[in-house]
Amino acid sequence: MANWQGLIKEYSELLPVSEETPKLTLHEGDTPLIRLDSLSEKYEADLYAKVEGANPTGSFKDRGMVMAVAKAKEAGAHTVICASTGNTSASAAAYASRAGLNTIVVIPEGKIALGKLAQAMMYGAKIVSIEGNFDEALKIVRRIAEEKDDITLVNSVNPYRLEGQKTAAFEVVDVLGKAPDYLTIPVGNAGNISAYWKGFKEYDEKKSCGLPKMFGFEAEGAAAIVNDEIIPQPETVATAIRIGNPASWSLAVAARDESGGTIEAVTDDEILAAYELLAGTEGIFAEPGSNAGVAGLIRSLENGKIEKGSTVVTVLTGNGLKDPETAIEQITQKPKVLPNDEDQIIEYIESISKD
Ligand code: F0G
Repeated sequence: MANWQGLIKEYSELLPVSEETPKLTLHEGDTPLIRLDSLSEKYEADLYAKVEGANPTGSFKDRGMVMAVAKAKEAGAHTVICASTGNTSASAAAYASRAGLNTIVVIPEGKIALGKLAQAMMYGAKIVSIEGNFDEALKIVRRIAEEKDDITLVNSVNPYRLEGQKTAAFEVVDVLGKAPDYLTIPVGNAGNISAYWKGFKEYDEKKSCGLPKMFGFEAEGAAAIVNDEIIPQPETVATAIRIGNPASWSLAVAARDESGGTIEAVTDDEILAAYELLAGTEGIFAEPGSNAGVAGLIRSLENGKIEKGSTVVTVLTGNGLKDPETAIEQITQKPKVLPNDEDQIIEYIESISKD
């Protein structure tokens, strides 16, 4: 089997790259599209998950970051900077470390999942943790990048980020042989829904593969687009999408309206129920933020906004291992602690094996 070469090489024709662009890669992309067998059967539809947690740093951010960091290096930057709810910082730090650039990340204190913080630290980022939220962090890094020529902003307002991220839409179409009827996706800073829509449109122009209806889902406590107003103090268990003033707001609204889709809010309870259901019935552990899209999928199937018989892809944006604390808090069935007594242990195991 041919060894996948990463996005810059595999999609050179469809990305703004040239001979001068460094061939940076951690072999991102080519992620699995897994059929959700038990949910498909339950709802009489053909449901798939695009498992972006299979990317090198465990989230979809790698698709955009490989492009943003390669282009920063090509342009002669020595440092990349970003604000982040966690995944962007992990990805930026990984690609910058590989490209020989420095990384500075600004994060909201206490609101970053443990795995993401560990990653950014290991990859050698300089981390500034502020007593503010993501939106405030983004405002600060935008200002710094505007003032300093050799520092490149790698948040999704950097256009190369969306270019890289659009490749996930190409992969979905290549596997299904056509666009799905619907795409359900979590919405935070609103870059990814915009990138998928760009990807589907570009592929449709080339291959007449059709277009999906884009169904985006914000967390209820951070639902700026749904409420059509900035949320100054966003709150949700899904810290990845705890964002009250999405940078790609208007692009996301355009994706919704051009595709005939919707952007709705899901509650933390719906997110956590989907989180447990997906891991417990499909064997796929995706982080809470990713499950906003799954919660929205389930609701849309139940209320008929997505009809029976539809082909639907839900984007699982990040790996569940990113946020072990939420997983352990959420699950009521805790490990059974027993003394080191062989007979007692065997007796207990026999009793549970009949459940
Ligand atoms: N899912 C996960 C796991 C994320 O980390 C993010 C965003 C989203 C969904 C939402 O994507 O912002 O393109 O609408 N995380 C950013 C970060 C903000 O800093 O890691 P979006």
